[in-house]
Amino acid sequence: MSQPTIESVLQEKRLFHPPEAFSQSAHIKSMADYQALYDKAAADPQAFWAELAEQELHWFKKWDQVLDWQPPFAKWFVGGKLNISYNCLDRHLTTWRRNKAALIWEGEPGDSRTLTYAQLHREVCQMANVIKSLGVKKGDRVGLYMPMVPEAAIAMLACARIGAPHTVVFGGFSAEALKDRLNDATAKLVITADGGFRKDKTIPLKAAVDAAIANNSVPSVENVLVVQRTQQTVHMEPGRDHWWHERQVEASADCPAEEMDAEDMLFILYTSGTTGKPKGVVHTTGGYNLYTHMTLKWAFDIKDTDVYWCTADVGWITGHSYIVYGPLSNGATSLMYEGVPRPSNPGCFWDVVEKYGVNIFYTAPTAIRAFIKMGDDIPKARDLSSLRLLGTVGEPINPEAWMWYHSVIGGGKCPIVDTWWQTETGGFMLTPLPGATPTKPGSATKPFPGILADVVDLEGNPVGTNEGGYLVIQHPWPSMMRTVYGDDDRFRRTYWEHIPPKDGQYVYFAGDGARKDEDGYFWVMGRVDDVINVSGHRLGTMEVESALVSHPAVAEAAVVGRKDEIKGEDIFAFVTLEGTYNPSDELKNELKQHVVAEIGAIARPGEIRFADALPKTRSGKIIRRFLRNLASGEDLVGDASTMEDQSVLDKLREG
Ligand code: WT7
Repeated sequence: MSQPTIESVLQEKRLFHPPEAFSQSAHIKSMADYQALYDKAAADPQAFWAELAEQELHWFKKWDQVLDWQPPFAKWFVGGKLNISYNCLDRHLTTWRRNKAALIWEGEPGDSRTLTYAQLHREVCQMANVIKSLGVKKGDRVGLYMPMVPEAAIAMLACARIGAPHTVVFGGFSAEALKDRLNDATAKLVITADGGFRKDKTIPLKAAVDAAIANNSVPSVENVLVVQRTQQTVHMEPGRDHWWHERQVEASADCPAEEMDAEDMLFILYTSGTTGKPKGVVHTTGGYNLYTHMTLKWAFDIKDTDVYWCTADVGWITGHSYIVYGPLSNGATSLMYEGVPRPSNPGCFWDVVEKYGVNIFYTAPTAIRAFIKMGDDIPKARDLSSLRLLGTVGEPINPEAWMWYHSVIGGGKCPIVDTWWQTETGGFMLTPLPGATPTKPGSATKPFPGILADVVDLEGNPVGTNEGGYLVIQHPWPSMMRTVYGDDDRFRRTYWEHIPPKDGQYVYFAGDGARKDEDGYFWVMGRVDDVINVSGHRLGTMEVESALVSHPAVAEAAVVGRKDEIKGEDIFAFVTLEGTYNPSDELKNELKQHVVAEIGAIARPGEIRFADALPKTRSGKIIRRFLRNLASGEDLVGDASTMEDQSVLDKLREG
């Protein structure tokens, strides 16, 4: 761990009670109700989850055992059979929801589409049949590299329907990053689009897939299914590449959902860790379906009358759990928007809220900070009165951004749910229940019922009230990641060994620092490992360093996070050059571009500083602590006596 002690400076005393009218009609109406659920779950987690699984989901066959816990490996609903696509679609078709909007979609250029549950079901079945006709069988992995169009959700549900785990790669990742992920997952099929619209330009998705799989560099890929979106010219390789719209007209709409084992893999989603290699986070079917269903229902208080909008991209876990699976399993109306605020249309989010009468809105602090900068006039020029609940996720929200969100967007009347969770956790872990929990700006408040969370020191001992420590989860939960794809050992090392088990009790180490206040509220303080949170997206310092070092000019690179007003953190890279290269601004730009090509635009370093040498310990470990201080222009904190060469720091300071 790079931070020996964690100090919290935030002292926030404001408290906001849920409006009475909100509480009265909420699923969970009071703190007493929350506490009763929490206590019930804590006393017997298995009985608690089993009861909900029975009530809320459809099972082809009931489980034999609720939980099989062989730390750190958990199995939930062992022996149970279900299909999440069935729970998201088929079961609603026998109710009035058959003709309810499942997805409302708005494209960036202003085109739009609404799919009812019946229509969505039909298209999912058709795509499932097309996927099958391309040789994909139960258990085969399918890579998705998609823009934010309904077909992204359709493809996910189609894969789930036939039991082919999907691995969605965010459309902003580069061809290089896509190649690595497809190879790690040994994907048999890739589903993509010709391109996508982003900030008034088109992004060449199909061309990136072509580059990723060129020269047999991903030998497992046999076919590519291409959705037409932008109508830009693309190369179609005969025999390998297939247009979805051509296949769809021939495809039968009859495709019964496969009976999946509760523990069958539903998807792999790659996330950054402390080493260069992205981790394939594995989620399975039953526990994930139940947990995303329950968390959305209680934390977002979903009702049949709501239009619910989560602004994330389906390429992230937020999109998986809270655009697609959680909302559809609940029979909710989920809004999907292709665009992002851009210079030509900074108010586009508020136009969408007004156009569709959005009731529940879920976004990230980085977006909120950007809105604050653009000025209150933009949201104030729109009618946002339909909103009744707001959510935030991705990083700690600054209390002032929270207050702005509350007053300017929420009109002072909407509770805010600050949801702390991770790709690994599958669903919300710490979150207010909006009809019950009084909120404090900047706190994700309390654990969801069934989640046992605490803040401990590195020995696993609880720290005192308001003392900083490591956020841990003490009991398995249904949607926890099951392993790192193909690497059980990495799973164990990364999440279960930092804090040693006490009396055989394993705890999940989240990688975040936190404190708990006198009311038992959690305050998450950010990552304690070498992970940088840029605009709510995790990037491993090692990944960026590896990308830099792969450029011929770079001898060595060290990357740290630096505070950024909008993005939360920005990437600051220290680079030493190979002998024949000279520092120049052109080279800085070239290196930034190189990182974009290797990983994607989200990883572009904000600043690169050339150095003669990097500060290292006598054993050769880069001392990032000092680099962090340098990057943020602070004085060096801590002891430099373990440094191999003291003069290195003086030179770096001169920059
Ligand atoms: C990391 C997980 C879960 C979807 C978005 C990101 C940070 C996330 C919060 C929050 C403080 C937060 C943590 C966490 N984080 N939500 N409400 N308050 N920090 O998913 O890419 O897996 O990143 O995001 O540092 O560990 P992810």
